[in-house]
Amino acid sequence: MCGIIGYTGKNNAVPYLMTGLRKLEYRGYDSSGIALQMANDIFVLKRQGKISELEKAVTPELFSFCGIGHTRWATHGEPSIRNAHPHLSRNSSFAIVHNGIIENSAVIKEQLSCEGYHFLSDTDTEVVCQLLEKNYKGNPLLCIAETLNALEGSYALAIIHKDYPKTIFCAKKDSPLLIGRSSEGNFVFSDCCASGVHCESIYCLEDYELAEITQSSLSFFDKECNPIEKTARTVAFNCSDSEKNGFCHYMLKEIYEQPSAYKNTVNAYYSGGDISFPLARFSSKLVCGLEHIYIVGCGSAYHAGVYGRYIIEELSGISTSAEIASEFRYGNVPLNENTLVIVISQSGETADSIAALELAKSKGAQTLCIVNVEGSTMAQKAHRLIYTKAGTEIAVATTKAYLCQIAVLSLLAVFLSDKKGILSAETKEKLIKEILSLDSAIEKELTSNECLCSLADRLKNAEHIYFIGRNTDYALSLEGSLKLKEISYIHCEAYPAGELKHGTISLIEKGTPVVAVCLRRDIFPKTLSGIKEVKARGAKITAITREEFRPLFGHEDNVITIKSDICDMFSPFAGVIALQLLSYHTAVKRGCEVDKPRNLAKSVTVE
Ligand code: G6P
Repeated sequence: MCGIIGYTGKNNAVPYLMTGLRKLEYRGYDSSGIALQMANDIFVLKRQGKISELEKAVTPELFSFCGIGHTRWATHGEPSIRNAHPHLSRNSSFAIVHNGIIENSAVIKEQLSCEGYHFLSDTDTEVVCQLLEKNYKGNPLLCIAETLNALEGSYALAIIHKDYPKTIFCAKKDSPLLIGRSSEGNFVFSDCCASGVHCESIYCLEDYELAEITQSSLSFFDKECNPIEKTARTVAFNCSDSEKNGFCHYMLKEIYEQPSAYKNTVNAYYSGGDISFPLARFSSKLVCGLEHIYIVGCGSAYHAGVYGRYIIEELSGISTSAEIASEFRYGNVPLNENTLVIVISQSGETADSIAALELAKSKGAQTLCIVNVEGSTMAQKAHRLIYTKAGTEIAVATTKAYLCQIAVLSLLAVFLSDKKGILSAETKEKLIKEILSLDSAIEKELTSNECLCSLADRLKNAEHIYFIGRNTDYALSLEGSLKLKEISYIHCEAYPAGELKHGTISLIEKGTPVVAVCLRRDIFPKTLSGIKEVKARGAKITAITREEFRPLFGHEDNVITIKSDICDMFSPFAGVIALQLLSYHTAVKRGCEVDKPRNLAKSVTVE
């Protein structure tokens, strides 16, 4: 992953770079650094850890009209100052920042080492930097093009050279890089929000394209360095909701934004009694001909897919499966024009999900992307597109984006069954009415904050927690388990309630916490059997259930009940709030970094 920012203009670059790095911190926070063009030199400042560490090291005298910055999520080499970007070439003429992975870096490094180059870091990036120096014969663009020819893997690169003042060179392949023109100067960045100022034109660099950015000009080239014309894109960016607005953490703020995020998403696709997806263009013929749907994603987006699988099968009868993108892309999944591959992603930049989309396209499948970030790579590559309207999500652990993903999948399930002609007018009206009422159900759940906070006291010292559920309750268990483990560092696993007894139940002993999601009425007795089995082995139960089932639990159980009478298939919209709040409070009580959990990044743009 990693975040890149570069500025060249009439003002001091340092504040722009620091603002950009703060805004890009969601892409990684193992280390950060900046490189500034000075009179005849390049000055580099790097720190390990969060951007706040670099901020402490920046002195008011630091001044340059041009510089590049980087926030790192470690791939090659441990998090340290030594491995932090920017990297300098041997004679300090080039400085570069990189997002991506150079797959043949070990081979190039060996060759360069034989030629006398020494390496100060363990990174693949430094290899590119030394190769640039080796290939330099007076023309930086030609040198970059030649260097890129030798690279395998993915890269977004911003490069400065000590002899080319106020100029940044850029290149990209399989990692995002954008160029922005503003009245305050010109930028390069991994994400438009990083500029911190309004850019009147944004250019998306395509794979193998190069760019040369000066104070006053933007020039683009193909891989042979021939000049090319590019059209500026207008992309709607909402950077305004990147403040905490009085909440202690972004995660809590985003949990509380869910009623409006949900409403915005549903209202975008529902009007006048009907559901429509203008950028998806589904015909009845296409829908009726579908033999199978694959829903693909990573992390919580995959969990949304598991929910989608159950609900699409339940409503439309179309055979559906949920797939983890990194597995899907290297599997031999049978695809043809009668299969629909739905790729879900908050960021639209997840490398494995993008690769899954490209694989599906190349095999002639129908594709649809459900994406939150407008203008993201996936949004640009999609044949069919549905935006979730969650707004900007800053906390690494997703909450509102996941909720909006399952909202779109619910609408889609109704839409597909309607297009297939198997939905009676009465059922359609009933389902839509229920979907439209869910924002107030979500709102009501947010009032359980206090009780979940005290329940977190009982879970905070656990070493292992198991989550169980069936069908959509299982889909929700997966998400609840991930939420808790990623921010509290407690080991959590989710299992279908009927599967635990085939091995994992051997781990249950006296006092082992088990969170049982049992919201579905249709299979409640079955889930209850699973609960009884683990209780018989000493498990301490926390149930997320309905009020009517409370009498079936004992006084020794923790019982959280949802506050609205939602039908089975939409019950996760209420249940997820309890699980998010429980995770949040448990992590806070354990003193964890809720918004930036260790080892994680919000957007994973490498394999
Ligand atoms: C990372 C994040 C997860 C997210 C996953 C997929 O691992 O930490 O929260 O669910 O990526 O991200 P995407 O942007 O594709 O939804």
